[in-house]
Amino acid sequence: MKRHSAGERRRITLTLNGKERSGYAEPRTLLSDFIRHELGATGTHVGCEHGVCGACTVRIDGEAVRACLTLAVQAEGRRVDTVEGLAADGEMNDLQQAFRRNHALQCGFCTPGILMSCSQFLEQVPNPTEEQVRDMLSGHLCRCTGYTNIVRAVLEVAAARRAGTGRR
Ligand code: FES
Ligand code: FES
Repeated sequence: MKRHSAGERRRITLTLNGKERSGYAEPRTLLSDFIRHELGATGTHVGCEHGVCGACTVRIDGEAVRACLTLAVQAEGRRVDTVEGLAADGEMNDLQQAFRRNHALQCGFCTPGILMSCSQFLEQVPNPTEEQVRDMLSGHLCRCTGYTNIVRAVLEVAAARRAGTGRR
């Protein structure tokens, strides 16, 4: 098997928000940097780069992960979803609309990552309690909102989806 030296760039192909995309990465390149700098999808934010703040959260094959703790090479051939993929035909999805309605963001720096965690959470926990929502959000640091409005938005979407009125 060919071994790659530390600085050698190789071509990485993955499916980003439903479209096949390719770019070059060193073995040590973080997925967050690859998405932002190589593929130009800057909706994924980078805060701590140490797995603490959650700003860089994306979904790989449906699972919410820290892109700053994932190497680009680990995403090779996989489905990566970012905040850019939530809206369809220029229209925000139900979760994004609920965040706007409930003033669940201020500066918005943490929001893309939170939205991606919420997306997975709502698929897995369709009828969450406030405590479950807060537990899920405990992996995200937000310096602005105090979380209350975010929790309200998530619970609102969960209820709407159960009632069949939410659009994902
Ligand atoms: S930038 Fe990845 S967790 Fe903070
Ligand atoms: S809205 Fe500013 S950090 Fe969360």
